[in-house]
Amino acid sequence: MSRYYRILYAVGFTPWEADSENAAPEFRTLIDRVEGGLERPFGAALDLGCGRGRWSLELAERGWDVTGIDVVPKAVLDARRRAEEAGVAARFVEGSVTALGNADLGTGYRLVVDVECFNHLSDEDRAAVGSGVDAVAEPDAEIVLLVWSRARRGPFPPGATREDVAAAFPGWRIVDELAYQARLPLPLRGINPRWYRLARA
Ligand SMILES: C[S@@+](CC[C@H](N)C(=O)[O-])C[C@H]1O[C@@H](n2cnc3c(N)ncnc32)[C@H](O)[C@@H]1O
Repeated sequence: MSRYYRILYAVGFTPWEADSENAAPEFRTLIDRVEGGLERPFGAALDLGCGRGRWSLELAERGWDVTGIDVVPKAVLDARRRAEEAGVAARFVEGSVTALGNADLGTGYRLVVDVECFNHLSDEDRAAVGSGVDAVAEPDAEIVLLVWSRARRGPFPPGATREDVAAAFPGWRIVDELAYQARLPLPLRGINPRWYRLARA
């Protein structure tokens, strides 16, 4: 899978970025809910599969101390460059979300976001993400993630059900589930993306 993304970033084909404004309303609704229970400064946020930093930068601008992790070196370099150009402080680390303990991430995260990275992973890799997140997140942390509905789609992401999300994060409970409201282009209409917010059980 990292090969797939290496190629996409190398050729500059990142359609999820073009669609990101469609994803923004529910993302912002859920982050508003997370922030509603906190005082500023909000603390540390971890962006899993951060890509070129689309959501990391938005969180940093909202007042989070953000670290993004991605397995593709070019994505990490682009994210650093974008942050610098935007004058935003955010840290980007190269590594796999399935081995968070091997990356120089530290601990103490109060927010973990995953926008369409979990979406791609096998059940085994998702379980590894879950235990990695358990180890780096604070007891009062929350998770926000966006996944497609589960289906066989050849080389495209298998997506995940609510049960898949719950299984990957057994120490957490789903406190919000929102449907993606934007109208997607025809070939993507069946993917029915959903947003989840989780808190520690
Ligand atoms: C659909 S893109 C979304 C990127 C970003 N979250 C966004 O919304 O702009 C999925 C991202 O997950 C990253 N990714 C896939 N598998 C990964 C892994 N095992 N560890 C870290 N990143 C991974 C890819 O490199 C890619 O940047």
